[in-house]
Amino acid sequence: MRLSHCHNFHDFRQLARRRLPGPIFDYIDGAADDERTHRRNTDSFDDCDLVPSVLRGVTDVDLSVTVMGQKLAVPFYCSPTALQRLFHHRGERAVAAAAAGLGTMFGVSSLGTVSLEELRQAYDTPQVYQFYFHKDRGLNRAMLQRAKQAGVQVMMLTVDSITGGNRERDLRTGFSIPFRLTLGGMAQFALKPAWGINYVTHERFRLPQLEEHVDMGGGAMSIGRYFTEMLDPAMNWDDVAQMVREWGGPFCLKGVMSAADARRAADIGCRGVVLSNHGGRQLDGSRSAFDQLAEVVDAVGDRIDVMMDGGVQRGTHVLKALSLGAKAVGLGRYYLYPLAAAGQAGVERALQRLRDEIVRDMKLMGCTSTRQLTRANLRFRAG
Ligand code: LAC
Repeated sequence: MRLSHCHNFHDFRQLARRRLPGPIFDYIDGAADDERTHRRNTDSFDDCDLVPSVLRGVTDVDLSVTVMGQKLAVPFYCSPTALQRLFHHRGERAVAAAAAGLGTMFGVSSLGTVSLEELRQAYDTPQVYQFYFHKDRGLNRAMLQRAKQAGVQVMMLTVDSITGGNRERDLRTGFSIPFRLTLGGMAQFALKPAWGINYVTHERFRLPQLEEHVDMGGGAMSIGRYFTEMLDPAMNWDDVAQMVREWGGPFCLKGVMSAADARRAADIGCRGVVLSNHGGRQLDGSRSAFDQLAEVVDAVGDRIDVMMDGGVQRGTHVLKALSLGAKAVGLGRYYLYPLAAAGQAGVERALQRLRDEIVRDMKLMGCTSTRQLTRANLRFRAG
């Protein structure tokens, strides 16, 4: 299979699976416990149907949205994800370039492998910084100031990862940063020598957002251990209110699920919330963002921007989320598999396909602007 044969999420996923060593593929592909929430994320879009309007003159379709004060050419953005250098040697650079090419926003993770400053300077499109709240308050302040100085537009605090999710695929392979694989995990790396050659002949793996501040121990630190040992489970609303004040710009919480929490986020000055269950990677059994969307939009949609992520694989998924009142939709695995499959060209192809699907679907819906997508376009199936 080649890139030109990839037409949808599943095709990119298959190509990524062929290129990546098993432990890395499973890190992206896997989720917590029984992975039920992960599966529900995509399935939840199937519980409602679109009701198109016809004969409305739909020659030109405008996909642009304004979210968190940023004008985006399309109603989706690349959510921050960790460790992109492992998936492709250009890592975050490839994703940022593809996002900029399409006129949308991209995220840089605290666990990113290219510095937020380099990305800010190199790619002229809105940038989100994904923040983890560490036990060390001095470190938190330093990281916030650093992102501010770099000119990052949007601060996104992850609130669903105060402890590590139970990712059993990673336990089996020993996936960690840097690697300390189990024997089984090592055997799987040996099966993908091309990945290994590429990895050692390119820029070395780094975590530039953290390396100045955190000693990763020189040894292996699994993602779960990073969450559990470095991040602060005592984080509370007062801490976040202070961060919102210190940041002074657009600030949102990623991983809010309840209407009450969304109200509270609005009360402390957040400009938005991202409904998310972290791709099903944290609390298995948690509700899907799409299932929870209407309730949260009804609670705070007139005060702050409500975004969502999780399970988005199709243009129609984006249309359904916008119809319920989401301002924009975040992508994770949707661009990670293409990154692993073919770097920047892969991400470009995947994002362009999603944009083209949305344009086509909007025409078929009889809509020329995302503002025309409302709940009148949707019917939920009974039971
Ligand atoms: C994960 C974190 C790092 O889900 O976002 O693996």
